[in-house]
Amino acid sequence: MITLTVNGKTVRAREGSPLLEAVRAAGVEIPTLCQHEALEPWGGCRLCLVDVTRPEWNGWAKMVVSCMYPAEEGLIVETHTERVVETRRVVLDLLLARCPETPLIQRLAREHGIEKTSYLPNPEPTDCILCGLCTRVCDHIGVFAISSVNRGAGREIAPPFHEAPPDCIGCLACAEVCPTSCIPYETSDARRTIWGKAFEMVRCPKCGKAHITKAQADFYAGRNGVPRSYFETCDACKRQEMARTFSKLSAGAVGGMETGKQGNRETGRP
Ligand code: SF4
Ligand code: SF4
Ligand code: FES
Repeated sequence: MITLTVNGKTVRAREGSPLLEAVRAAGVEIPTLCQHEALEPWGGCRLCLVDVTRPEWNGWAKMVVSCMYPAEEGLIVETHTERVVETRRVVLDLLLARCPETPLIQRLAREHGIEKTSYLPNPEPTDCILCGLCTRVCDHIGVFAISSVNRGAGREIAPPFHEAPPDCIGCLACAEVCPTSCIPYETSDARRTIWGKAFEMVRCPKCGKAHITKAQADFYAGRNGVPRSYFETCDACKRQEMARTFSKLSAGAVGGMETGKQGNRETGRP
């Protein structure tokens, strides 16, 4: 572990871990839009900027994106310097121009003193802030079904040729990770649709709940030697099964201890 300071507060951090973790450990809130703990940092939104310096830098400091910059011994971090706050304001002003009707962006902009964008608002407002979380999570699970297409104001996230993506398994990870909830989907016991593709559902063999698509079960089955039945069983039933197993094991352990005591009595040994 190493020691650094965030806004004058001393915090401990793992060497090389994202500086953002140390900022949060210091109890300091800074906005983030493209960061997710399950994914590699990407540094796309630039909202998590902070100033870093060291005593030997003689007053010089540099702005870095804290979700990517590694925590180092002795680093001095300032999260709300004038230039950092001003840069965040510019980013949010631009985002508000792209997404003028998106509540999350409106709120963040307002928190930074922006009620109305100073840029030309997007004539076709979108809720997609181009944070890249959806494409990165899809790549992370190994599917690569969607990507960023077009340029400039027309940039968007879409499947190839805007058609139902053949590789998509309907896992909903992209929709669940989206900070503005702008990926539409429908799901029921019988069917799920996302990105214009329909999926058949698989029911948990224990409780009957439809919780996974057949395409998902097919995709995961056999990975790392895990049988298909493991993925078909829903999380709640898996937890119950595990609880039952642990309770049997601990009952066995207690029984074993008692047997051991009796054995000691019989042999007369301490
Ligand atoms: S639902 Fe489809 S596009 Fe979305 S993460 Fe899953 S596989 Fe990828
Ligand atoms: S669809 Fe959602 S997750 Fe994907 S880039 Fe747009 S805002 Fe981010
Ligand atoms: S959260 Fe760090 S750049 Fe987006």
